Amino acid sequence: MIKLLVLLFSYLLGSIPMAYMIGKFRYGKDIRKYGSGNVGATNAFRILGPAAGITVLAADALKGFLAVLIAGYFGGPFMVIAAGFIVIFGHTFSAFLKFRGGKGVATGAGTFLAIAPKSILWAVLIFVLIVLLFRFVSLGSISGAASLPVLLFIYQRPWAYVIYGLVAAAFVIFKHRSNIERLRNGLEPKITWRF
Ligand code: G3P
Repeated sequence: MIKLLVLLFSYLLGSIPMAYMIGKFRYGKDIRKYGSGNVGATNAFRILGPAAGITVLAADALKGFLAVLIAGYFGGPFMVIAAGFIVIFGHTFSAFLKFRGGKGVATGAGTFLAIAPKSILWAVLIFVLIVLLFRFVSLGSISGAASLPVLLFIYQRPWAYVIYGLVAAAFVIFKHRSNIERLRNGLEPKITWRF
């Protein structure tokens, strides 16, 4: 029973739409109506500025980190993975936004920070490198996600975590299908640091 409650908590935690809330209550803007319309750190950065972007990034990652940490307290690897999937799911299909949400990058990264910090730090490094080189955040997210299962394998994390990484990465890449379409057509906007 307690495990089910923990998983329900993971879903509700993931559902908290940080980008939407900060946009709405701090800047008076519904982020879903601007930029890519995505309820995530990149769009917050794009529309609301660096402070909002970084805050959303940290808060979304914290959701993933906490969900997995708490689940680990109540159960083994299966519980951890279940909570990981569920918190990402909650973020992308938020109970508070009519089951819409973000793309799961920061929240997913937060879950791996708790269970495979070295792997996720390398994945983040790949993300940063790609963004600096090409200035497409989506391409950075896709590259970081794709590299993660390989890094988990290299660092010899338990098989359950490698499979979790594989499925989570596939899900995150799937959520980027509109970005992939825009990248292919040369329509994906580049990130700018000047405001
Ligand atoms: O984490 C989401 C990012 O990879 C893309 O965001 O707003 O450009 O669709 P966005």
